[in-house]
Amino acid sequence: MIIVTGGAGFIGSNFIIDWFSSERKEFLLNIDALTYAGNLTNLESIRHLPYFAFQKGNIGDKELITQMIQQHQPRAIVNFAAESHVDRSIHGPGDFIQTNVLGTFNLLECARAYWNTLDEERKSSFRFLHVSTDEVYGSLGPSDHPFTEKNPYEPNSPYSASKAASDHLVRAWFHTYGLPTLTTNCSNNYGPYHFPEKLIPLCILNALHGKPLPIYGDGQQIRDWLYVKDHCSAIRTVLEKGSLGETYNIGGWNEKANIDVVKQICKILDEVKPRTDNNSYSEHITFVKDRPGHDRRYAIDASKIERELGWKPSETFETGIRKTINWYLENPEWVEGVLSGSYRQWIDQHYPK
Ligand code: NAD
Ligand code: TYD
Repeated sequence: MIIVTGGAGFIGSNFIIDWFSSERKEFLLNIDALTYAGNLTNLESIRHLPYFAFQKGNIGDKELITQMIQQHQPRAIVNFAAESHVDRSIHGPGDFIQTNVLGTFNLLECARAYWNTLDEERKSSFRFLHVSTDEVYGSLGPSDHPFTEKNPYEPNSPYSASKAASDHLVRAWFHTYGLPTLTTNCSNNYGPYHFPEKLIPLCILNALHGKPLPIYGDGQQIRDWLYVKDHCSAIRTVLEKGSLGETYNIGGWNEKANIDVVKQICKILDEVKPRTDNNSYSEHITFVKDRPGHDRRYAIDASKIERELGWKPSETFETGIRKTINWYLENPEWVEGVLSGSYRQWIDQHYPK
């Protein structure tokens, strides 16, 4: 069995859905604190499976994590749990230190205590996979080579600094204690179940509701977009075949300026869901004040994972963004639930504090 943390969030829930989509029957326990970003309705389609279980809990809770690990005896732990939004980290960095740094530390310690009790065979097959971001490498100049695994860490936001700290802890737990760790550093994801505080879902939904599409600064910041299902397949590949203690950069070879991403969303919406007045959704593009410390360019050199593990993304930005837009058009109830606050009320009722 495996334990996944943060599996009610955007990437974790896609990972769990995909985990079971190939008739896989290996037991999976999802431990998630259900912060504002965690949404159990993401997992509605697999909730009934007998080899799936959910436990509400914080990765920083030593007693609970120890108990869950002891009870389930996992062969792997995949850590998605994190505070993930850069803008929130600027306004309130404390939660990022708590979860991303101290939470990961606790998870590593609980995993290590358990791993030490295993026999040699189970010890060598155990894996601790830590899901991280390309933002730890800082910002690239316009003609710099994309980030490789050898780039120095130069995080610029409280979010990326907290993720960088957690990556360092994972590295140290491998080198010092021999815990069999793997780390993945992925570029920006997009796709189904993406919380509408992030650029792509925010712009799709604001466009549909006739609201402004806010572009920070000049909109020329570049991100390297990867469809979330490709990220999930890369994580499964690393879990299965990755070399211990290694880090793997994951990306889609899809560098795009923010303004071009938003224009492309508008163009597709104009085609698939034309406005009643027949004007373009791009009319609502609005340039707003830039984010402080805004990284100019991220780009991933994903050749190591392709060369060593044979992984490649299967979606281009064009195919992935169309799927994403269709998903948001076809799932208004999900959007409504996330935005209306009724989901939070449901959580408070079912999981009283
Ligand atoms: P998300 O914010 O959508 O989900 C995070 C999940 O973690 C939520 O379900 C939340 O309830 C849970 N969580 C938060 N704090 C917790 C705690 N203390 N204990 C247990 N659960 C907790 O994030 P995401 O976009 O799905 O990102 C998942 C991971 O992937 C993160 O580690 C993030 O740094 C990394 N990542 C994200 C992206 C991206 O583009 N979204 C890209 C690369 C890497
Ligand atoms: P975001 O989705 O927050 O991801 P990250 O900051 O982790 O890269 O933002 C993606 C890019 O879009 C980033 O350069 C900030 C920019 N952005 C906007 O221009 N407007 C917005 O409203 C948001 C949320 C982001």
